[in-house]
Amino acid sequence: MGFTHIPVLLEEVTSNLVSEKTEIFVDATVGGAGHSSFILERYGNLRLIGLDADEKALEIANEKLTAFKDRATLIRGNFKDLKAILTSIGVSSIDGILFDLGLSTYQITGNRGFSFNDDTFLDMRMDNRESFTAYDVVNRYSYEDLKGIMEDYGEEYKAYRIAKAIVDERKKNPISTAKELSAVILKAKRRTGKIHPATKAFQAIRIEVNSELKNLTTGITDAADVLAPQGRIGVISFHSLEDRIVKNVFKTSSLLMTITKKPIKAGRSEIKQNPSSRSAKLRVAERE
Ligand SMILES: C[S@@+](CC[C@H](N)C(=O)[O-])C[C@H]1O[C@@H](n2cnc3c(N)ncnc32)[C@H](O)[C@@H]1O
Repeated sequence: MGFTHIPVLLEEVTSNLVSEKTEIFVDATVGGAGHSSFILERYGNLRLIGLDADEKALEIANEKLTAFKDRATLIRGNFKDLKAILTSIGVSSIDGILFDLGLSTYQITGNRGFSFNDDTFLDMRMDNRESFTAYDVVNRYSYEDLKGIMEDYGEEYKAYRIAKAIVDERKKNPISTAKELSAVILKAKRRTGKIHPATKAFQAIRIEVNSELKNLTTGITDAADVLAPQGRIGVISFHSLEDRIVKNVFKTSSLLMTITKKPIKAGRSEIKQNPSSRSAKLRVAERE
């Protein structure tokens, strides 16, 4: 397969979202099927529906879940369309659902413009059936819009400098690869600590390309509608913008009761084994 994505908070997800009573469980971000295969293995009677917008995820998940073929249904789709997807397969109610946000390893290492050194087309789409790419954002957005998304989706305090550097550079040549974009950002924002100076700008552009925050709000709001009473929803987020949305949707929903007053985080040994689990936060709510 040539790729390994280590699923985060595996025990915590499973013990909080799944039980012997769970009949239908949705993995809304099936990715490499790390969580899904673990849950299918542990609960022999459960049926799992796995969604992912990314073609590659479905390929990998299909292979990984071969042994569970009779209990796993994999569908390529966006979780913003959760209700329509479930209706299309005749499912009206579910007992649990997981959203594991962010990128999977196959996306980060896939030369798709998500990584600073990618010397290929500046893409960043999760779903390649969509036509809008990071190239469009970087080369077509106005200075104001570029600055705005970097402030709103990246909380980037040097947004004005980075936006100006992008606009100046593209007057000479279009910015066509992630590597070129990182070089432009590095000129506008010097490296100070361990974190790459382009981290926040890349996050912002990726969120814009994939409408990540809007989809998240729709996805979890609609999930609450289709959950059976006592059904559980869990969301693993990786940055404060996502976590804030999850916390607020849980709090303001008339259907959900928050189970995790504080988010569940990875313990020391998990972080040691998988450093990218450091920023993961799991919040859980239950349908009343
Ligand atoms: C962190 S990975 C999930 C990893 C998975 N839990 C595992 O154990 O391998 C996130 C996945 O969510 C998918 N994704 C992100 N936003 C999505 C959306 N709105 N609809 C469907 N899939 C989405 C990505 O394509 C990616 O494969």
